[in-house]
Amino acid sequence: MKRIDQETVRRILDTANIVEVVSDFVSLKRRGANYIGLCPFHNERTPSFSVSPARGYCKCFSCGKGGSAVGFIMELEQMSYGEALRYLARKYNIEIQEHDLTPEEKDRETARESMLAVNEFAQKFFEDTLAETPEGQDVGLAYFRERGINDAMIKRFHLGYAPDNATALYDAAVAKGFDSRYLFDTGVCIRNEQGRIYDRFRGRVIYPVHSISGKVVAFGGRTLRSDKKMAKYVNSPESVIYSKSNQLYGLFQAKRSIVDRGKCILVEGYMDVISMHQSGIENVVASSGTSLTDGQIRLIHRFTENVTVIYDSDAAGIKASLRGIDMLLAEGLNVKVLLLPDGDDPDSFAQHHSAQEVEDYLAANETDFIAFKTKILLDEAGGDPVRRADVINDILRSIAVIPDVVKQQVYIAECSRSLNIQEATLGLQLSKIAANRAESQEKEVQRANAVRSLEQTAPIEHTTETEAVAGLNYLRGFERQVLRYVVKYALCEIGVVTGADAYSEQIESINVLDFVRTEMSADGLEFNDPLHRRVMEMVVEAAAAWAGEYPDVCRKYEAMREERMKAGLQELRESGLTVSAINAREAALREECDRFVHESIDNESLEYVSRTLCSSPDDDVRRLCTELSIDRYQLSKVHTKHTKIESERECLSRFVPRAILEFKCATLEVMLRSIQKELCSTSDSEQQNSLIIRLKELKELHAEFARELGDRTITPRKIN
Ligand code: CTP
Ligand code: MN
Repeated sequence: MKRIDQETVRRILDTANIVEVVSDFVSLKRRGANYIGLCPFHNERTPSFSVSPARGYCKCFSCGKGGSAVGFIMELEQMSYGEALRYLARKYNIEIQEHDLTPEEKDRETARESMLAVNEFAQKFFEDTLAETPEGQDVGLAYFRERGINDAMIKRFHLGYAPDNATALYDAAVAKGFDSRYLFDTGVCIRNEQGRIYDRFRGRVIYPVHSISGKVVAFGGRTLRSDKKMAKYVNSPESVIYSKSNQLYGLFQAKRSIVDRGKCILVEGYMDVISMHQSGIENVVASSGTSLTDGQIRLIHRFTENVTVIYDSDAAGIKASLRGIDMLLAEGLNVKVLLLPDGDDPDSFAQHHSAQEVEDYLAANETDFIAFKTKILLDEAGGDPVRRADVINDILRSIAVIPDVVKQQVYIAECSRSLNIQEATLGLQLSKIAANRAESQEKEVQRANAVRSLEQTAPIEHTTETEAVAGLNYLRGFERQVLRYVVKYALCEIGVVTGADAYSEQIESINVLDFVRTEMSADGLEFNDPLHRRVMEMVVEAAAAWAGEYPDVCRKYEAMREERMKAGLQELRESGLTVSAINAREAALREECDRFVHESIDNESLEYVSRTLCSSPDDDVRRLCTELSIDRYQLSKVHTKHTKIESERECLSRFVPRAILEFKCATLEVMLRSIQKELCSTSDSEQQNSLIIRLKELKELHAEFARELGDRTITPRKIN
């Protein structure tokens, strides 16, 4: 097990050109300084995916996805950080230097990797057994044949068979040198209380479950006996590598097709997925029998906004599953449903019809979910007016979860027609439902925040719990604003006014990072949000790394200057101009080369920190920094020229001190509020007096800060 060296990581990040990387997946057109194309993360007809070569980012303005080159590959191909780096290294022929893991790195990785290795071995073992052993062929293969599954599907889904022998897999794995610990951790083998060991899936056909990137994370084993007492399916247990509620069966095989077709079809079981694939419909995944989870829904949403849920018509559970579909709506997905003819499930339907027939049936019978729900509930309610009213409220509750108000409006209009109730009436009821929901959600959020605040390390002193939570939430926005400048412009020099009074005043040059750190530490301020603190630490680290690389970068551009000069001089000498003309041009050339070097180094230093953070292996850090670095306006179609970037950069000397001051002001406000609260709750007059004095001090300071926020020049002040 190896880890890529930091230098190689650096080289990969420096080499990867965002336009080239994205171009492998999206056809891009130039638009001013940027490029645009159709977003690969969602289905669209007009391009809203923008790529900025200058800043090394891409971003979709409609769905918000994107990031640095590494972030983009991770998101699109669902790769891990390491996988994405290796992908880019391959693309650019960069030789990877790697090192063995440190003991801690090893411990963390070993379990995971070893379990994946065990599963991979087991998958191969089951596949080989199916294809090559007499038992596998006579029992397993014969079963799949009988169910009409062809060889291509057996291969594609890596179907297999586990010999009906207590320890066949265990013995083979141990002989191969696998640590038995991981055989038990993955659950392919079981050791019972008496210490007896046996293979979990023995005598069953095997459906491996793959992660999005194709790793084998679990198995489902189906019995071939019709013994009612025997569980039909046995599945791998939950483990470090397998969380059932965050997997969808078939997604690995379906993901390309889901993106291509702009839709995901949701079915129940293993065989449904495989038979549909065999009939040529590949954008199919299964929730594996359980009701949908949030994790699974988010997984679908990574690839498309459109979902079609297929129901067996005889499934008694249609009504029960309606609620699960509200979760799809709440995630912002467009949901259709399809009812199969009586007695069919997707597996049997696909097996008994040609590919074209299946396609046609799908196209002709897909119904919008809200319309579908309305119909079955109304049919059930019959003429009973009270029950009809219940139905209408139930439908409105579904509409209320849809995040897009325009879509809500469309549904209201449609329901008004189909239910024959005025739109205004429905609209009114909808807002009531929404208000009720918002209220209960608010309570939920408060509860969750209260729990989180207990885990946070730096709560604001002297405040009650909820007060502290409200304070932290209030401050978060101000912290982000400061952090945004730090991430985006860490190494940018700004001029700030220093000196105690007007006489000793002078302008000093300091970079944004140092300025912010000095200002904050002078007042004993820290970011309250732990993620913000983590980002700050990483910016400091990246800045230090840049200092280490700086001499090399300078050398690189100095060498380029030499070359440019040499080529330019050569040209001049051959030009046949007069000596004085040559001298004048030479001076101009020198000036131009100087400017080139200066600007290049300046640009590289500007990009360095944000690029490093936007390519961080830490998911939270990477996401937040990408969000902070990519300014909506900057990449939007309107501001394609550099004007916007330039102007913000030029104004940093005003913007950054202002952001700090605003953060300080906000911190004071939170402190004031908590002191006021305390004042109300104490009856000790001595304490009251000291609180009043403190309150007065802070109020004066706050007033002063607020005044300064109106001024142009800002002098650093202390809070305490
Ligand atoms: N399932 C499971 N564990 C069980 C039962 C069911 O994981 N104990 C999941 C499987 O993914 C299964 C799906 O639920 O494919 C649907 O279950 P069921 O309808 O019972 O099985 P079928 O897929 O119809 O399997 P078959 O056609 O082979 O009977
Ligand atoms: Mn079935």
